[in-house]
Amino acid sequence: MDNQSLWEKIQQRDWFYTFHLPSGDSTRSYLPAEAQAVHATRLQMLQTCLKDYYGESPADITAIDLACHQGFFSHHLAAAGHRRVTGIDARQEHIDDARLICRALQHDNIEFAQRDVFSLSPEQDGQFDTVLMFGLLYHLENPVGALRVAKSLCKKVCLVETQVGPHISGQLDWGHYEFVKPMMGSFTVIDESHETHGPEMSTLGICLAPSTQTLIWIMQKIGFDRVELLTPPEGAYEQIRFGKRVMVAGYID
Ligand SMILES: C[S@@+](CC[C@H](N)C(=O)[O-])C[C@H]1O[C@@H](n2cnc3c(N)ncnc32)[C@H](O)[C@@H]1O
Repeated sequence: MDNQSLWEKIQQRDWFYTFHLPSGDSTRSYLPAEAQAVHATRLQMLQTCLKDYYGESPADITAIDLACHQGFFSHHLAAAGHRRVTGIDARQEHIDDARLICRALQHDNIEFAQRDVFSLSPEQDGQFDTVLMFGLLYHLENPVGALRVAKSLCKKVCLVETQVGPHISGQLDWGHYEFVKPMMGSFTVIDESHETHGPEMSTLGICLAPSTQTLIWIMQKIGFDRVELLTPPEGAYEQIRFGKRVMVAGYID
């Protein structure tokens, strides 16, 4: 397919992201205008974190983008200096889209595969310097398991971006009123069971969103050496500005 036919195919529809193509054309996003800032803010936070961690010109680093959708962040990982990027998503239609956009963006160091996050392992898939898990955790019924997968694939830094719910702390009677346990946090249960056909939704329908403190505690508990809540930039998308969505970095020193 030549560039003109590729662009004609791409512009026939709207996309989750605005992709800026080398031709100067951009894709139309189906997100309402006021929500599109969610991508811009997350991208800015990703770029700042990677630059702070790896410096201006990182050498020979690799990345995996878990739940990559149409590959928007995979391309930015490549642009940030990753030698090789792998994007995986449970939905084959996203992988087809990601490959189409990848041809138009002319990146030859990104590969996409239809995979469920729970099918990944370091033994089969290797490890990656950077692991990205954006917009996935709160669509899962086993978020702790997914964080363990992300940690197992990670050599240096893992960025988790998620919607969060309210926090619970204090003491809980644990078998007897004289035997209590401290509560380390909470998950909010959300029903997406009638929306599993939606392109951005859970594949199973029962979703657990952690509180911010719970996410940080779990990431520390499963073995990240350092865990840091990233600060939203000036003018951040409202959800991120007000802490309803957060980005947390786990580092392996
Ligand atoms: C809200 S979108 C986030 C997409 C992208 N990471 C972002 O932040 O813009 C959620 C994505 O998770 C994918 N997904 C849901 N469950 C998954 C699973 N178990 N394994 C891999 N991908 C999954 C969906 O297909 C969808 O692309």
